[in-house]
Amino acid sequence: MSTYKIIDHEYDVVVLGAGGSGLRAAVGLSESGLKTACISKVFPTRSHTSAAQGGISAALGNMGEDDWRWHMYDTVKGSDWLGDQDAIEYLCKEAPRAVVELERYGVPFSRTDDGKIYQRPFGGMTKNYGNGTAQRTCAAADRTGHAILHTLYGQALKQQTEFFIEYFALDLIMKNGQCKGVIAWNLTDGTIHRFRSHITIIATGGYGKVYYSATSAHTCTGDGNAMVLRAGLPLQDMEFVQFHPTGIYGVGCLITEGVRGEGGFLVNGKGERFMERYAPNAKDLASRDVVSRSMEVEINEGRGAGKNKDHINLHLDHIDKKVIDERLPGISEAAKTFANVDVSKEPIPVVPTVHYNMGGIPTNYKAEVLTLNGSEKTVPGLMAIGEAACVSVHGANRLGSNSLIDLVVFGRAAAKRAAELVKPGSAHEEISSSETDKCLERFDKIRNSNGSTKTSELRVEMQKTMQSKCAVFRTEKTLKEGVNQIRKPFEGMKDVSVKDKSLLFNTDLVETLEFDNLISQALTTMDSAYHRKESRGAHAREDFTERDDKNFMKHTLAWQKGKEVEIKYRDVHSRTLTNDVQYFPPKERVY
Ligand code: FUM
Repeated sequence: MSTYKIIDHEYDVVVLGAGGSGLRAAVGLSESGLKTACISKVFPTRSHTSAAQGGISAALGNMGEDDWRWHMYDTVKGSDWLGDQDAIEYLCKEAPRAVVELERYGVPFSRTDDGKIYQRPFGGMTKNYGNGTAQRTCAAADRTGHAILHTLYGQALKQQTEFFIEYFALDLIMKNGQCKGVIAWNLTDGTIHRFRSHITIIATGGYGKVYYSATSAHTCTGDGNAMVLRAGLPLQDMEFVQFHPTGIYGVGCLITEGVRGEGGFLVNGKGERFMERYAPNAKDLASRDVVSRSMEVEINEGRGAGKNKDHINLHLDHIDKKVIDERLPGISEAAKTFANVDVSKEPIPVVPTVHYNMGGIPTNYKAEVLTLNGSEKTVPGLMAIGEAACVSVHGANRLGSNSLIDLVVFGRAAAKRAAELVKPGSAHEEISSSETDKCLERFDKIRNSNGSTKTSELRVEMQKTMQSKCAVFRTEKTLKEGVNQIRKPFEGMKDVSVKDKSLLFNTDLVETLEFDNLISQALTTMDSAYHRKESRGAHAREDFTERDDKNFMKHTLAWQKGKEVEIKYRDVHSRTLTNDVQYFPPKERVY
């Protein structure tokens, strides 16, 4: 489109996103001699990985016996048998090496008295196949994500990754079903950039902001996922949205599970430690789906805390002050700032809050994007990692601290695979301008929207609909209403108003592009949830209370076609890489 100045670039590989997974991939790619660009809409160290608090899982065995097979068993069970076991085996086997690598890169982990990496207990992490609690979550106090992010950014700079910071990626360049690069808008000078690359790695994070109350940053709008939908490719398992049990009441800020790992516990309005009733073995350290549902039941049945009985209290006032100061300084500050609570004297008021998207771009364990064409098929030139991807190691429910390890293990796997596929400096195929034109037509149309509805109004309507109709507990009725109601803000884009027409740091336009990305994911999430008529992991249906392995032990794939969503399914990988370990669901659920 002639009105826009287009600046061309050529790279071996382009990484979209500079959080933990994007940066880990960039380090590996640059290290292996591939000319690598990393594009990010925010400054790398402001990526949402910095919000990860409690830690990163790996069976190091620093604080008691541990084994990657136990980690694998917990992850398969935690996924409620929807995780792909080949990918989970890869994750758990690779985890210890990945954490030691982070230590060598310079991550300032907390230490045991004998100088080893400190590890705390986290929900669902057990010893010996469910017999006892494992201390498997490696921590840098309660700022683990922040420490990893800063370290990896330093490493990427050292390896000469080229950064394009405050560039907003608009769309993938696709040719005959292959990805040839990406188009991005430079927010600081308004120029449009066309990046041609042999491989594009999407590492743009989750889309928590489809919900009203989420621990996610304002920037978590799943931009890469939406690009994938616009490229005619599916997203996988979007119905599985994790509610973290302990978001601060009223504000949604994360209070790490590490608090319960260090001995904190939940109490209802009657002063009862109610988790003993719901999960007699794991109690407060049951997996997140179990704890969140139990809290909701307590509140819904009138046993919530506070004047309105609408939250739960998290106690850590009994924990030694030295432990709090050393291991939990960040949440003490957050509780004071956002809830005016002194954690050494009072409990923190908490509610289950949207925290993580298990669903995303389907990939294999080498990070190659998958689609379905009869059977599974990779999409040449396209990879996805981190929360944007659905590998799927988390299945229907992610265990706490399995996210940070997912970032670095699959960030590295993507770099390794790219190095096998791409010869550094190899020539780029010619691509016509039609893909760029299509992308810029959409951009231009949104920029010149002169309707009467504010983006913020559409966003709130979407968020409130998701929050009320696709919540912790779901029914046919709420989901059916949700499927209809979520199309209203989608249609609302036709009447949206973008008042600022400039190209320089135009936040009005950025937020409208982000809303357009979010609403596609809201649609696919709602429709995927409606079609899954069972309860599994984070998807709890009050009308189908049991897991139905016969009909639903399968991944949902959702394609967006305008306001319609097409749903298909693909089989879960119950095969493993070595086939020396493989887990099958028991008849009964025991927590
Ligand atoms: O509770 C937490 O610290 C969060 C960790 C995670 O989501 O992995």
